[in-house]
Amino acid sequence: MRKHCPGAGTGGKAHQVTSGREPSGQGVVFDTSRPHMARVYDFWLGGKDNYAADRAVAEQVAAAYPDVRAAVRAQREFLARAVHFFVTEAGIRQFLDIGTGLPSANNTHQVAQRAAPQSRVVYVDNDPIVLAHARALLAGSPEGATAYIDADLRATGAILERAADVLDFGQPVAVMLLGILQGIPDQDEPGAIIARLMDAVPPGSYLALSQIAGDVATEEVAGGVQRYNEQVAIPVAARTHAEVTQFFAGLDLVEPGVVQVHRWRQATENADRGRDLAIYAGVGRKP
Ligand SMILES: C[S@@+](CC[C@H](N)C(=O)[O-])C[C@H]1O[C@@H](n2cnc3c(N)ncnc32)[C@H](O)[C@@H]1O
Repeated sequence: MRKHCPGAGTGGKAHQVTSGREPSGQGVVFDTSRPHMARVYDFWLGGKDNYAADRAVAEQVAAAYPDVRAAVRAQREFLARAVHFFVTEAGIRQFLDIGTGLPSANNTHQVAQRAAPQSRVVYVDNDPIVLAHARALLAGSPEGATAYIDADLRATGAILERAADVLDFGQPVAVMLLGILQGIPDQDEPGAIIARLMDAVPPGSYLALSQIAGDVATEEVAGGVQRYNEQVAIPVAARTHAEVTQFFAGLDLVEPGVVQVHRWRQATENADRGRDLAIYAGVGRKP
């Protein structure tokens, strides 16, 4: 089934949608018969923007790896903690959030602008359904700015060029790659993609990323990844702690380094230290 969604309009001067596929931002078409990462993730988060095919694969992955819901919810909480850290401790006011996902509670601009209303946020995603919901991501504070770019993470040149309409690349930027790198296979050189993004931002900028772990609950996660990959167009790959740490090459890792996602700067009583969750997360600073 193909759905038509007219909801991806453009906003004001600093609130804009740019899309290579849909220059007007209108008339987005998407296929609901195959599961998509953004909608499967939305289901695990308890959202409503998902279809039968998404829910079916989400349930199958959960049967193989029952902690998947807890892990993705912890990833969403990591997003809020990382953005709060950037604004309140690192003095960051600009964000490039690639792999945005469907609007949910505590989107990046909401967390950032709550603490610093002048924060400027550029969202990037390549899923047409996220594009269709982009308007919800653009209702930022009047002092700040938000924008949405419909693009693939691999197209770093186009992303950086379009993001420069809203972000000042002479000032520090927090680059966010949460839950997206598992869809970039090694042959597409995710490390080189990160390097191109971090080369474009000045010293004092940050990288936050999270990625499915390949060495936590190894068998269950491998089973979940296999079931997911059998049914989707874009397969995912789990990665080890060493592989995820390598993504921060050339950056200074912020304490506590690359850890399971619920353990990154979480208050000790909430970190549930006895429980393992198979997503790694970390934050690095460009020296
Ligand atoms: C699992 S969701 C994560 C959402 C959000 N970052 C979070 O952590 O809550 C991953 C998002 O990345 C997007 N995505 C996956 N591969 C992408 C690519 N190559 N380029 C741009 N977006 C991509 C998907 O469409 C989806 O919306």
